[in-house]
Amino acid sequence: MTSIPSVRLHDGHEIPQLGYGVFKVENEVAADVTTQALEAGYRHLDTAKVYGNEEGVGRAIRTAGIPREELFVTTKLWNDAQRFDDAIAACEASLERLGLDHIDLYLVHWAVPAQGTYVEAWKALIELQERGLVRSIGVSNYPAEQLQEAIEATGVVPAVHQIELHPYFQQRELRAVHAEHGIATESWGPLGQGKSDLLENPVITGIASAHGASPAQVVLAWHLASGIVTIPKSVTPSRIVDNLAAAQLTLTADEVAAIDELDRPDGRGGADPATKTS
Ligand SMILES: NC(=O)c1ccc[n+]([C@@H]2O[C@H](COP(=O)([O-])OP(=O)(O)OC[C@H]3O[C@@H](n4cnc5c(N)ncnc54)[C@H](OP(=O)(O)O)[C@@H]3O)[C@@H](O)[C@H]2O)c1
Repeated sequence: MTSIPSVRLHDGHEIPQLGYGVFKVENEVAADVTTQALEAGYRHLDTAKVYGNEEGVGRAIRTAGIPREELFVTTKLWNDAQRFDDAIAACEASLERLGLDHIDLYLVHWAVPAQGTYVEAWKALIELQERGLVRSIGVSNYPAEQLQEAIEATGVVPAVHQIELHPYFQQRELRAVHAEHGIATESWGPLGQGKSDLLENPVITGIASAHGASPAQVVLAWHLASGIVTIPKSVTPSRIVDNLAAAQLTLTADEVAAIDELDRPDGRGGADPATKTS
């Protein structure tokens, strides 16, 4: 079975560097594809309350019969539950749907600066960690300003920041902030979500040909070589397996540098966390 490197978080827990994401996967489909992912060898799953598929993911976990300590399960607090008590209740409801007694990584899904509750949400996650409901806590989609504010207000540094990141949108400034604080960077949309020509880019396809690998494997291998935790999504059986095998692909320093050159000022594909309002 494919061996997956892991990253040690500042709180001492280890996160498998390559995981499996289930954004936009229906609950019933999620149970089936998560089962396939676990059979392929993934041990890190990334879901969210708002994906509506925590129950299906939980069912796949139970039927797989893999020891709980071998799995790393992430879910996220949705934007409508950032008030302290709402966040505690939302986490308990996620645990119930997943059928788990703890979550390995719980993330505030978006800062939503206009809502003004991103620090309160972070305080709730600190409480959830103290209560033992979640092992590691982090945030997702926090602009640098809101990230700093949450840290300064609480003295607690997120273990992980999950952000949009791929070769066309490399987030160098935010990654530098992470490095200062010892925050692990986790990339969502690592393959560009199919929104651009990333997987047809000649730099990527050229490196893929040289290794007899797929373009997606090259992109994922770049994330891994860059020290980023990543969670590609696929509902296609062959791609589920193909993506995991990226952990076995080692790029040369020149290949990594060539992909580093693909960063674009307009490379963002998803919503801008600074201006998202709900
Ligand atoms: N925190 C956040 O706000 C946030 C936002 C978005 C996503 N996420 C998380 O990050 C995960 C990954 O992001 P994402 O799902 O948006 O985008 P992604 O993983 O970059 O891209 C998924 C798309 O790429 C296709 N694909 C997968 N493997 C492929 C391969 N080997 N070759 C060619 N195409 C391939 C998939 O198609 P098929 O499925 O049809 O195979 C799907 O259309 C999500 O599932 C979710 O867990 C978090």
